[in-house]
Amino acid sequence: PIIPVILSGGTGTRLWPVSREAHPKPFMLMPDGQSLLQKTYLRAQQTSGADRSITVTNRDYFFSSRDTLQQSVSDTSGCVFLLEKNGRNTAAAITMAALYAAEHMGGPSLLLVLPSDHLVGQVEAFAEAVQQAAVLATQKRLVTFGIQPSRPETGFGYIQTGEPLHPGYTVSRFVEKPDLATATAYVQSGEYLWNAGMFCFEVDTFLHEMGLHAPEVLSACQACYAAMRGQTGGSGQGLEIPDALYAQVPSISIDHALMENSDQVAVIPADIGWSDIGSWTAVRDLTPGDADNNRSNEDSIFIDSQNTYIHADQRLVATVGTRNLIIVDTPDALLVSDADSVQDVRQVVSLLKQKQ
Ligand code: GDD
Ligand code: MG
Repeated sequence: PIIPVILSGGTGTRLWPVSREAHPKPFMLMPDGQSLLQKTYLRAQQTSGADRSITVTNRDYFFSSRDTLQQSVSDTSGCVFLLEKNGRNTAAAITMAALYAAEHMGGPSLLLVLPSDHLVGQVEAFAEAVQQAAVLATQKRLVTFGIQPSRPETGFGYIQTGEPLHPGYTVSRFVEKPDLATATAYVQSGEYLWNAGMFCFEVDTFLHEMGLHAPEVLSACQACYAAMRGQTGGSGQGLEIPDALYAQVPSISIDHALMENSDQVAVIPADIGWSDIGSWTAVRDLTPGDADNNRSNEDSIFIDSQNTYIHADQRLVATVGTRNLIIVDTPDALLVSDADSVQDVRQVVSLLKQKQ
C-alpha cells in the first residue's frame, strides 16, 4: 500500500497578505475555490486509492487541516496528524512520519511525500507517475519526480539524470537550490530536471538511508518518537510531537540531508502540469486574462489598464491607467506591487516581523 505523507509547515511569505502565519499558503484558495491543501488531499486519495494518510503540520493548523481533510476524504479513520510546535524542516517531518508508519501502518509500506504548496494540473498523469515511482521504490530506490525546467529558477532542486532504469532513470547528481549561474548552465545543458518536491520510497529504505547520511536527524527523531509512544492517532486525531526533544533535531531539508548524498536516488520524469505557487505572478497565471491581459479572481473593473492582476476577497477593486501591477486586497492589508518585483514581497513580512 502507498501511504501519503502530507507536509504543510511553511508560511509562504512571498504570498503576503493572503498567506500569513495565521492563514498559511496551504489554506490559500485558488481561483477555483479549493485550497492547495484540499487539492493535495484529493490528489493523494485519487492516486493511492488509500484512505490512510499522515499529515505533518503545525499545532496551530490542526483544526483547519482536519476540516480540510474531512471535506476531501469520506473515511478519515486511517488518517493521522503529527503536530509540531516548532517545525524542524522537512527531513525531521518526513522522518517522524516514517517512524510512525513503521510502527502503525504495517508491512513493507511505501510512503508518498506530498508538499501542499504547489499545484498538479494533470492528476491522471500524476497518478501514472506515482505507479511508476512505486515500481522503483520497491527496488529500494528513493524516487523523485522530475519536471522539465522552463527557466533558471534558483528556488528548486536540480536533478541530473543518469542511466535508464525501467521505468525512469538513476540520478547522477542532485543539487538543491544552485546559484543563478549554475542553474542557467544546468537548464542550458538539457541534462537536468527540476525536483518537484514529492518523493516515494519504502519506509525501511528511507530509514536505512537516513541512518547512513543523516544519523543525527534520525536518532534525534527516534528519541522524540519514543517519547510519543502511547498516544494513539487514528480517526483523524492529532499526536503532539514533544517540543523540547524535537528542538534537538537538526533543522535541515530532506533535499540537503538525503537527496544530495544518497546513491539510491532515482527519478521519474513527470509531465503533470506542475506549478509551484511561489509568488503572486504564479497565482495570476492560473487565471485567464482578458484582451489587455488583465486578470482578476473576482469581478473587477479595468479601465485603460494592461497586465494588471487583482486578487480581492471582499471589496470591489477598480484600476484606471495601470500597467504591470499586482494588487491583492484583504480586509486588513493591501498589497500593490510591480509584477516584476513579486519575489520581494517577502521583505514586507520580514519588516513586519522586525516591528513586532
Ligand atoms: N510539517 C512541516 N514542518 N512541513 C514543512 C516544514 C516543517 O518544518 N518545512 C517545510 N515544510 C513543508 C512546506 O510547507 C512545503 O509544503 C514542503 O514542506 C516543502 O518545503 P519548502 O520550504 O516549500 O521547500 P522549498 O520549496 O524551498 O524546496 C523544496 O521544494 C521544491 C519544489 O517546490 C525542495 O524539495 C526543492 O528541491 C524543490 O525543487
Ligand atoms: Mg516550496
